[in-house]
Amino acid sequence: MSAYPSCKRTRQTASSGETVLITGGAGFIGTNLAHRLLSEGCTVRVLDNLSRRGVQRNLDWLAARHDPERLQISIADVRDSQAVEKALQGTQHVFHLAAQVAVTTSIAQPLEDFDINVRGTLTLLEAMRRQKHPPSLVFTSTNKVYGNLDDVPLRRNGSRYEPRKSSTRRWGIDETQALQFWSPYGCSKGTADQYILDYARVYDLTAVVFRMSCIYGPHQFGTEDQGWVAHFLLCGCAGIPITVFGDGMQVRDLLYVDDLLDALQIAWRQARPFSGMAFNIGGGPANTLSLVELLAMIAELEGKAPVVQFAQWRHGDQRYFVADTRRFGELSGWAPRMDVRAGVTALHRWFQQYPPGSAALFLNTAEMNV
Ligand SMILES: NC(=O)c1ccc[n+]([C@@H]2O[C@H](COP(=O)([O-])OP(=O)(O)OC[C@H]3O[C@@H](n4cnc5c(N)ncnc54)[C@H](O)[C@@H]3O)[C@@H](O)[C@H]2O)c1
Repeated sequence: MSAYPSCKRTRQTASSGETVLITGGAGFIGTNLAHRLLSEGCTVRVLDNLSRRGVQRNLDWLAARHDPERLQISIADVRDSQAVEKALQGTQHVFHLAAQVAVTTSIAQPLEDFDINVRGTLTLLEAMRRQKHPPSLVFTSTNKVYGNLDDVPLRRNGSRYEPRKSSTRRWGIDETQALQFWSPYGCSKGTADQYILDYARVYDLTAVVFRMSCIYGPHQFGTEDQGWVAHFLLCGCAGIPITVFGDGMQVRDLLYVDDLLDALQIAWRQARPFSGMAFNIGGGPANTLSLVELLAMIAELEGKAPVVQFAQWRHGDQRYFVADTRRFGELSGWAPRMDVRAGVTALHRWFQQYPPGSAALFLNTAEMNV
């Protein structure tokens, strides 16, 4: 369900009878997406190898709410061409979300990162190409394809970094920003991003790329080393010390997951006219936070300040990234609707359903990439 029942803009909804494949459908974004599409009458195939710790909990949550005939689960690897081919049969659309998602893991295991993110994507693209009627595709790429933005001069302003150039301050980073793959994760996601755009050119696959900023919302347990908003909230609630890498003034735009789902559904419905295009998708300049600003918000919500320790900057960490979403917005009418303060409060409330102390169960490392 959308978080915005009173909003006047009509959302593009799924229609019953359509079959959609979500690779990585047990993950944070995949679970939210599957729930929405199933609620709207779609048949949803989830292909996920459950390699992300804790995502079985998401599948159990989905299975408890939806008809097993329409929620079809394949526990398989996206690199397994037979499993992917089978999962694709009869689908009208694919959301390709399955990925190795953490910069830190990619630095520790670059071959595995490459294999999942590049070979996995090519396996999917080839299987799609072999279909008699290839489905359309939306791929979730990342703002990390723009590297550390060292050509965007910054200055400090209070508790955050901001661009010196007023137009960048006003709008953020658009798709004309030069690609600069940085970190194995940036390289592997960027390579997948480019292959998908090329399959649209060379093989006429209908495919759209979203280069996404930080997404946050329910079902994001902030485990391991990705998902900093959820991670900070979980640590803050559980009284676990939070490690901030760098000075904490790095700025991100935050997009609430329901807003992302709206954009993903539009991209599906407009996949033909948008095919071969990449879009920066995030909360935009109106929905930004620095790390220390989020910590202050958590202190307000919890009534006590989280325990914080500082560590060295991490490799390639962007001091600033804010998406300029005007390209997608102007073509589709989409704009984020969840204000960042309301969104963080909603996620904090969502975590309250878990008994005090259980948050620690979701956390298995203090690191995350933002
Ligand atoms: N969450 C964000 O802020 C964000 C930002 C930018 C881009 N993205 C991209 O969005 C997508 C979804 O992210 P998320 O936050 O939901 O992550 P997530 O880790 O919650 O979900 C990814 C899912 O993919 C599955 N998976 C991993 N390797 C697999 C493989 N080889 N075969 C099959 N399944 C596999 C995992 O088990 C997990 O369920 C990813 O592609 C990620 O790179 C996310």
